[in-house]
Amino acid sequence: MTKLAAVSTENLAAAAKTSEEWDSFLRQKYDPASVAEEVPKPKDAFRDYESALTEQPKVSQFYAENHEKQTLSFVLSQKAKYASLDKLTMGIWEAMEKLNALVDDSDPDTSLTQIEHCLQAAEAARRDGQPRWMVLTCLIHDLGKVLFFLGEPQWAVVGDTFPVGCRWSDKIVYPDFFARNLDREKERLQTPLGIYEEHCGLDRVHMSYGHDEYLATVVKGYLPEEAVYIIRYHSFYSAHREGEYRHLMDERDERLMEWVRKFNPYDLYSKSDDAPKIEDLKPYYQELIAEYFPEKIKW
Ligand SMILES: [Fe+2]
Ligand SMILES: [Fe+2]
Repeated sequence: MTKLAAVSTENLAAAAKTSEEWDSFLRQKYDPASVAEEVPKPKDAFRDYESALTEQPKVSQFYAENHEKQTLSFVLSQKAKYASLDKLTMGIWEAMEKLNALVDDSDPDTSLTQIEHCLQAAEAARRDGQPRWMVLTCLIHDLGKVLFFLGEPQWAVVGDTFPVGCRWSDKIVYPDFFARNLDREKERLQTPLGIYEEHCGLDRVHMSYGHDEYLATVVKGYLPEEAVYIIRYHSFYSAHREGEYRHLMDERDERLMEWVRKFNPYDLYSKSDDAPKIEDLKPYYQELIAEYFPEKIKW
C-alpha cells in the first residue's frame, strides 16, 4: 500500500490557493450573486482571457497548463494508474480531515477550508430536504482532491473537466489555451465525435482527469448511480451549465445530468459568515457515512 507522498508544505499551500481561486472563479462565472460582496467583478470579466492573464494570473496560468497537458494519452495513463485502488486505505471522515490540511495561510480572503466547503454544501442540501444519499454526495464530492497528497500537480486535480479524444467545445473556459495541446495535431481527435460514436453515453467518454473521475472510481460500489454520476461530472460545466456535448450523451445522461444540475448550486453555495461548526455536525455525518461506507475503503 502506497504511503501518502511527502508533499511539501509549500506545494500544499500552492495547491490550496489554486483550488480556492478556482472555486471562486467558478462562483464568479456561474453564480455572481454569491460573490458580489466578496469580489466586486462584473459577470463577464473573465471572458477575455488576455486581460484575465493579468487580472487573475493564477487561475489563467492554471488553465493554460491544464488545457495544454490534459491529452487523451495523459487521461488514459491516469485512469490506468488509479483504477487499481491500491494507493491508500482510508475512511471517508479521515479523508475529509486529510483535506483540511489544504489551507492557504498566505491568502487572507480564503473563506472556507475544504471540510467547511463540504459541510456547508451538505448542510444546505439537508435544509432543502434532499435525499440522504444527496446530502452525503454533497459532503464527499471533493474528496478526490486527496490526489494532491499523492503528488499530483494542480492541473491534474482541479479545474472544470471536458471530454478528450474529440474536439473541444468553445464553451469550455479559456478555449484558446487548447492551442498548445498536442491532440490538436491529430485530425481524428478534432472532429465533433472524435473517437466516439454518436450518443454513446458519457461513461464511454474519457474526461480530462482530476478529482471528479478519481473519486467516482473510489466510491462506485457504495453509492447509488445518481450519486456516482454527480461526482464524476460535477466539474463538467460545459455540459451541465452550457448544454454542450449532447451528441455524446444518451438517454441515461439526459436523465442523470438533471441531478448534476440540482447539485451544482450546493457546490457554488458559499458564505463565509456561516462557517459550519465541524465538531457539532460530526456525529450526524459520521452516522450518514456509516450508512453507505465501511470504516475504511480503498483509494
Ligand atoms: Fe469539485
Ligand atoms: Fe466543490
